[in-house]
Formats: sequence, structure tokens, C-alpha cells
Amino acid sequence: MRVQVCIIGGGPSGLLLSQLLHLQGIDTVVLEKYSRDHVLGRIRAGVLERGFAELMREAQCGERMDREGEIHNGFHIAHDGVLHHVDLHKYSHGNSVTVYGQTELTRDLYEARDRLGGKLVHNAADVSLHDLASDAPHVTYRDGGREVRIDCDYVVGADGFHGVSRKSIPKDVLREYEKVYPFGWLGVLSRTKPVSPELIYVKHDRGFALCSMRSQVLSRYYIQVPLTDKPDDWSDEAFWSELRRRMPLEVAARLITGPSIEKSIAPLRSFVAEPMSYGRLFLAGDAAHIVPPTGARGLNTAASDVYYLYHAMVARYRTGDGSGLNAYSQKALARVWKAQRFSWWMTMLLHRFPDRIEYEDRLQQTEMSYLFSSETALRLLAENYVGLPF
Ligand code: FAD
Ligand code: PHB
Repeated sequence: MRVQVCIIGGGPSGLLLSQLLHLQGIDTVVLEKYSRDHVLGRIRAGVLERGFAELMREAQCGERMDREGEIHNGFHIAHDGVLHHVDLHKYSHGNSVTVYGQTELTRDLYEARDRLGGKLVHNAADVSLHDLASDAPHVTYRDGGREVRIDCDYVVGADGFHGVSRKSIPKDVLREYEKVYPFGWLGVLSRTKPVSPELIYVKHDRGFALCSMRSQVLSRYYIQVPLTDKPDDWSDEAFWSELRRRMPLEVAARLITGPSIEKSIAPLRSFVAEPMSYGRLFLAGDAAHIVPPTGARGLNTAASDVYYLYHAMVARYRTGDGSGLNAYSQKALARVWKAQRFSWWMTMLLHRFPDRIEYEDRLQQTEMSYLFSSETALRLLAENYVGLPF
């Protein structure tokens, strides 16, 4: 098979890019390691910034998001048992975020690819990238016992943190920056009414908690747990009881519990790979960078990669102008590092750090009291949470 752009990974980054390029007459194929059901079984992001929502509309995939997604003009931070409101609308020039689950968004992207007859290969085994430094790269994968070869102009690595694309960049070219946090988030999805119409981020001596949602009948809650914990260590009762202990009393009193329909643990990590391109390969999304979910930046940062790459590819195919592709890594990384900074800051502000000295605990308390005593500090928080411009 020959295509213009071969995209590795059928997560949100890969699907969105292939849909946008297809609409501009650029031929792509998406190679996904797992089945569609497996990809749609993952429960991840919930908060989308405006730039992402606009890109979904441009990709002709925004209809259900606009109908069913909820606009949130603010959220709460609770500490010392008190709820503080962060008015995003007021502090970010009228901006807001959309609460719409990554699972639904991925489903919309799959449906759009199907509608346009997009080429999508599931269960693509042993994907392997070749001749990336040449003008004629190719990708191979196994389909049962058969090896399939795809020749292309460009390869996009949108295959997440554990994918094969980043690993195809020679070690002496790639530089990796990483911070691993000594805890994870235990997440529970339940068919219950959310405890609050807006998200609540909780800082507590027992550890962080987050009250989020997917809709008015589907709640998503998280608690900070040690990295050694497994989801099976936590019965539903134990989860609800720990969550309640971390919430302000007035919120705990309103909490409606029910059976969990999904329970998983996500370790927290900050990671950036530089450069984000090598020869004819371009990395996008979690394949190149990871943030702890505290600032809700991961998927939103993938969106800015897709935006830059999409425009650079269109310029290259329309007018032969390759300057956008040449500048892609530098341009994407400038925004990536700002999202890294914000996610790290939110994580440091809200979590309990087991090995921290008392001095650092006092700084953390001071950071929090400063935040709610300064409109300038709230503005910084709001501007980053709604997403910096692309
Ligand atoms: P992925 O979603 O990881 O997709 C990569 C795809 O590539 C996968 O389908 C994978 O199966 C496939 N693949 C892997 N290896 C191969 C291979 N060798 N060959 C072919 N295919 C391969 N972000 C936000 O912006 N807002 C939030 O509120 C938010 N909340 C989050 C909550 C949690 C608990 C977690 C864990 C993450 C959250 N994120 C959030 C981050 C967000 O989910 C990710 O940033 C997002 O999934 C990145 O999309 P992606 O397409 O780049 O990568
Ligand atoms: C979620 O709803 O899954 C979610 C929301 C906000 C975050 C992280 C995750 O910061």
C-alpha cells in the first residue's frame, strides 16, 4: 500500500489528524495495535479546552460534543475543609472548558473516519518504522501471518507513551526529560449524579482527591494512592469511604455512591522527548510527552501538536512549503513545556508528598493561601487551565 501520511496509533491524536488531513485531500492510513472495543474501553480525559473543541468542529466531529458536552465556567479547590471557587470565565477573559469524555470523543472520531471511508487498521501487530532519515520511509506490520508494507511520504507517531515511534529515533538524537511522582490516581466511574455541578480538586492531609463527571448521571472520582496499591485492593466501599474523608463535610454529606463501573490506577509522570521529529517522522501527543492529569492538559496538549502538524502538512502538500514541518518540533515543544510547568505546579500544589520536609509543606500551604488572596495568581491559574493559545 502507498499513502501520503502513515499514522501510528488510533487514539485521539492519530484519529483527529487523519480526519483533518483527509478533509484537505491528504491520504492517510491509521495503524492501531488494539481492537476498537479495547481503545473505547479506556476511561481517560474529561476536560477539553476551547482550542481542542474548535479542532473537533473543524474535523466535522463536534456535533455530539456541542450537544452533550457541558460548558464549565469554573471549578472549585477545597483545602482545610473549605471550598474556594475559581471563576474561569472572570479570570480568563470570558473563556471556559468543555466537559466531554475522551471515550465519547474517540467514538465520534471513529464514526467520522468510517463515514469518509478512512483507512484504519486495527490489531496491527509488530508495527515497525523504516528508513525515516531517507526521502522514502516505510512502515511494516503483521496481519496474522502476513507482513504488510506501507510506503509513504511521512510517518506520524501518535502511538502514546508506550508506542514504538519514539523508540525508532536513534538514542544519540533523542533526549528525554522525566519526573516520576511517588503516587498514582485511583479512578472510579459510577452511574450516579455528580456531587457538584463543577469539578472539585481537593487538597487534604490524607492525599489529593478529585470530583469530576462525564454527564449529569455519570460521575468520575479520583483519590491519590501509593504506587504499590492495585485496583483490587480497593473495594467500592473502601473507595467511597476514603473519598468522603477527604471532602469538605458539606460536600461529603451530598455524595451519592453506587457500584463502580470502572476502576483503574494511573501512575503520575511528567515526561518530554526532544526533538519531536526525526527525518520523515513526527511525534504527536503522549508519544512525545506526558503530564500528570492534575491540570487536565494531556489531551489538550496533544491537540496543539495535531494543530501545528496539520497546518504544516497542508502547506507542504498545497504549496510545497516545508518550513512548517521543519519548525514543527521547536514550535510544539514551546507549548508542551508550558503545559508541563502548569501540570507540575498543580500537582505540587494539591498532593501529599510522603517524603517531604516540613519546610516544603509550609511552602505548599503558603502557595495555596497566596492563590486565594491574589487576583493575579487566580488569573495565572485560569489562563493556563482554559489553555494557552495555539
Ligand atoms: P493515546 O490515547 O495513548 O493513544 C495512542 C494509541 O496508540 C493507543 O490507542 C494505543 O493502543 C496505540 N498504540 C500504542 N502502541 C502502538 C503500536 N506499537 N502500534 C500501533 N498502535 C499503538 N488530558 C486532558 O487534556 N484532560 C483531562 O481531563 C485528562 N484526564 C486524564 C485522566 C487520566 C486518569 C489519564 C490517565 C489521562 C488524562 N488525560 C487528560 C491525558 C489524556 O488521556 C492523554 O493525553 C491522551 O490519551 C493522549 O492521546 P494520544 O492519542 O496522544 O495517545
Ligand atoms: C477527568 O474527569 O477524568 C479529569 C478531570 C480533570 C482532571 C483530570 C481528569 O484534571
